[in-house]
Amino acid sequence: MLLVALCAQGADGKEREDARGPGHVSVVIVGGTGDLAKKYLWQGFFTLYVNQVSSGNTFSFYGGGLSPADKATPVLFEILKAVSCSKDVSQERCALLKEQFLRLSKYRQLKTTEHYQDLAKHIEQELQHEAITEAGRLFYLSVPAFAYADIADKINTSCRPTAGAWLRVVLEKPFGHDLRSAQILSSQLGSSLREEEMYRIDHYLGKQVVAKILPFRADNSKFLDPIWNKRHIERVEIVLKETLDVKRISFYDEYGVIRDVMQNHLTEIMTLLTMRLPRNLSSSEEILRNKLQIFSSLLPLRKNQAVVGQYQAYKAEVQQELNKTKDHVTLTPTFAVLAHISEAHYEDVPILLISGKMLDERVGYARILFKNDVFCLESHNSIHCKPKQIVFHFGHGTLNYPAILVSKNLFKPTVRDGEWKEVTEHQDVSVLGLHISDYYVQTPAEQREAYSELISHIFAGRKNSFISTEDLLASWGVWTPVLSSIITTLPRIYPGGAENENLLDIRVKGKEIDYYTEVVVISNDQVGGSSANRFQVMQGKFRSGDMVSAWAEELVERLAANMQEAAQAAVREGGVFHLALSGGSTPLALFHRLTQHHFSFPWTDTHVWMVDERCVPLTELESNFHSLHKHLLQHIRIPYYNIHPMPVHINQRLCVEEDGGALLYEREINKLVNGSSFHFVLLGVGYDSHTASLFPGSKVDGHGVSLVAFTESPHKPHQRMSLTFSAINRAHRVALLVMGRGKHELITQLSRVKDNPDKWPVTGVKPASGRLMWYIDYDALLG
Ligand SMILES: *[C@@H]1O[C@H](CO)[C@@H](O)[C@H](O)[C@H]1NC(C)=O
Ligand SMILES: *[C@@H]1O[C@H](CO)[C@@H](O)[C@H](O)[C@H]1NC(C)=O
Ligand SMILES: *[C@@H]1O[C@H](CO)[C@@H](O)[C@H](O)[C@H]1NC(C)=O
Ligand SMILES: *[C@@H]1O[C@H](CO)[C@@H](O)[C@H](O)[C@H]1NC(C)=O
Repeated sequence: MLLVALCAQGADGKEREDARGPGHVSVVIVGGTGDLAKKYLWQGFFTLYVNQVSSGNTFSFYGGGLSPADKATPVLFEILKAVSCSKDVSQERCALLKEQFLRLSKYRQLKTTEHYQDLAKHIEQELQHEAITEAGRLFYLSVPAFAYADIADKINTSCRPTAGAWLRVVLEKPFGHDLRSAQILSSQLGSSLREEEMYRIDHYLGKQVVAKILPFRADNSKFLDPIWNKRHIERVEIVLKETLDVKRISFYDEYGVIRDVMQNHLTEIMTLLTMRLPRNLSSSEEILRNKLQIFSSLLPLRKNQAVVGQYQAYKAEVQQELNKTKDHVTLTPTFAVLAHISEAHYEDVPILLISGKMLDERVGYARILFKNDVFCLESHNSIHCKPKQIVFHFGHGTLNYPAILVSKNLFKPTVRDGEWKEVTEHQDVSVLGLHISDYYVQTPAEQREAYSELISHIFAGRKNSFISTEDLLASWGVWTPVLSSIITTLPRIYPGGAENENLLDIRVKGKEIDYYTEVVVISNDQVGGSSANRFQVMQGKFRSGDMVSAWAEELVERLAANMQEAAQAAVREGGVFHLALSGGSTPLALFHRLTQHHFSFPWTDTHVWMVDERCVPLTELESNFHSLHKHLLQHIRIPYYNIHPMPVHINQRLCVEEDGGALLYEREINKLVNGSSFHFVLLGVGYDSHTASLFPGSKVDGHGVSLVAFTESPHKPHQRMSLTFSAINRAHRVALLVMGRGKHELITQLSRVKDNPDKWPVTGVKPASGRLMWYIDYDALLG
């Protein structure tokens, strides 16, 4: 191959590690005909070539791949023909440069060790032939990560450059999927390559606005130093929103949004924003040190510092793409928000990392919102009353160029180097709540593509634009615990696009975040609406009652909250709250929630009644009272005379009619409960649709006006005592709690059947003047 000897002048080698001066550089793109290479890499290397033409270096470029040369060569040349010059290069010159570039580029099959040995031999022959020294070899591995270790080994054993020349091996994410796999991959690579030879790409670090974060902080330190701390920062948001769905499902489903963009891009930006400003911005060592210091000061992320979501169509896409059956469930999040609270300097400042697919707009930015204590009485248009913020706008969104925006109520930033310019002519747009004219805006004088930037940094040996092993492992160290803690978390399902409305709004409470709306999401076809608008945020209807539906945990939270509201209202009005609780395992999560989170529940003014009881001594495990005592009563401060177990055990006999237990309980209710109307009755429903201890086929309606009756169950123990429909339907509020996938079929049936309490006892629950609310979790509702 012909090497074009270029005139040596003005070598811009000031950032180069090697002090040897110019020489020959071999660039090898492994995966040279793949998508990334086609879209970005060859263009990036052409740009490098154009910029280096007069540096004194000479180049050869190799596209490597598994296919034989005769097949892949035409493919490569199609890609190469598409490269273009920047605007400042004349057409003739561009044509000349392209022609040279094409002549310097060649496809090589790189499959076996021999192929790598042949490549090395070829490079050495050329060096000898042209009598030039070697400056270095750059391998860009644009291949799946599982191939890294093998290729790195082949490079080490067969393709290292001649003595004194550099070796740089560029790697693309993913770098593992958790701390352990990242450690394994790093140690495999470490046996073939030295740390300084590895360049792990995070293409966000090539974005001009991201690369400008530290210089901006340094240039404006006089303004920023006093306010870049917890006393002045309200919160930090690092946001990457996408409108598209997932493209490579087989990859994505293993990774999800946190591994895909948060562990890397958003985390890197977070460290740039929060790290101590390095004294020397060119020192990769100092930058790495400061980054690591931020990582080590992060508090361990826990489950309640994250919320996750998944767009509605994702599950079906996965089923289709991965040939899964209709009952295949994926919990992979396609949306997530995480709050970190880091070191003392930013203690209690929420730092939100937010990203998702199928959101309302495509945009990437980091925003530092400052506290504003100015309150404008009259002129609400005054800039002083408006948000005080700095926005690093990476791209897309309403603003169609990358920019750094500083609200005018903060300070006027310096624009120092000629690479950035101030924008004063504005379109009529708003950015994050402020009209563009309320900002000082600066933008790169010339927009450059991230990969081209990074390729020039690799060539210059600027390590701080890349992810070092320590940085990588520290980041996985932060993310791995939260990834394992949410592994079984059911993501909130969101419809996608504008229809998401406020479904994904979040609330930050101290160090925790949660979704702001507890409102229910159900699909309309579940309640017989039109299918055109399948998702709506709504309080649904189920049978004749109202319905709340959510994932189990949220559902229980909601029920507990509603119960407390009812209790407080009753106590406010009449000084007492009468609550009737059912047995079984379904309410245990509710009891747990009540004891752990509802410390202001007015237990001392609450009377606890039983909905039903099994005819066993109250001390036995099977007894509903025993379970209620164990899971609720013993954990709360309630007067013992406010507790009303059912008298199933009288005269040392269990549930004997003539002992009159049912009547006793009824009298107690009549005596204590105004109008015999409980304030709140909690019911469950069994697989056979029984509720309380009212079972199908047992004339459940035949109890007349009695409030309490002995009943028969098909299950052991057969004898029961139960509130009747008369008692239940007098209540002010009745809650029917249904949870678990096992109840899905029942719920589907119940949504269709007419009222028929003999066959479907639960359909007899119809409060005369009270309110019935169904609490049905997604598993039971959607299956
Ligand atoms: C590269 O390979 C040589 C043997 O060929 C081995 O001694 C060395 O440890 C390997 N790794 C590095 C980083 O040089
Ligand atoms: C800053 O760091 C670079 C790279 O390590 C080094 O070459 C330069 O001398 C340093 N400058 C100062 C002022 O220390
Ligand atoms: C799914 O099935 C199709 C056709 O049967 C097949 O071509 C495809 O490779 C399969 N995909 C996976 C991920 O198994
Ligand atoms: C009892 O209920 C009746 C009718 O609902 C109501 O008017 C009255 O105020 C209640 N009494 C007490 C003590 O709450």
